[in-house]
Amino acid sequence: MNLKQMAGIEAAKYVEDGMIVGLGTGSTAKFMVDEVGRRIKEEGLSITGVTTSKETERQAQSLGIPLKSIDDVPYVDLTIDGADEISADFQGTKGGGAALLFEKIVATYSKKCIWIVDESKMVEKLGKFPLPVEVVPYGSQQLLHLFEKKGYSPVLRTAADDSTVITDGGHYIIDLHLQKIEDPIALGTYLDQLVGVVEHGLFLDVVTTVIVGGENGPKTIEVSR
Ligand code: 5RP
Repeated sequence: MNLKQMAGIEAAKYVEDGMIVGLGTGSTAKFMVDEVGRRIKEEGLSITGVTTSKETERQAQSLGIPLKSIDDVPYVDLTIDGADEISADFQGTKGGGAALLFEKIVATYSKKCIWIVDESKMVEKLGKFPLPVEVVPYGSQQLLHLFEKKGYSPVLRTAADDSTVITDGGHYIIDLHLQKIEDPIALGTYLDQLVGVVEHGLFLDVVTTVIVGGENGPKTIEVSR
């Protein structure tokens, strides 16, 4: 079995009747959403889903998963989402699929967060995978210059047809090619205070459980916070 699929199916076991479940975005989360859909259909599981992107919304609707907006639920019991990198101290980066803003909003109001990854995503330090920063289009060139000056090797994200990627929130993505993030908290604090930055892909102190798909089966790690 594909390692992403293995992690996705394992994580779907944590979904219980009556839960409000945050449904993540990306190729790993897609397997989890498929499995939740299967459980609803075949096991009569009853949940309410809160999606983190239009892409996941379309998938969940096609599977008949009942959905509500994050603004129409009191909280989220459990969010299951993918990640781009997870460091040895369980900090993470997300946003490879450009859904980081909605993913972070849903994660923020979730009692528990499970990240599902294949073993290649487990790293010592974050930074090899480019760090996405979601920005308002107006002034985005100024932010690109600023990040260039800081030595962050920024690249405005474009699609296969060379058009600028527009997020579900109507923003651009600037990917920072940092190679190594020595101090994720300091970098996150710096990015948080920049005018025009809507959100960044550093998800710090968020995850409560990591499920890693590996050659010997899924490995579940409980993260104490
Ligand atoms: C989307 C994300 C994804 O969860 C992350 O990029 C992992 O994606 P994949 O499971 O396809 O490797 O953060 O914004």
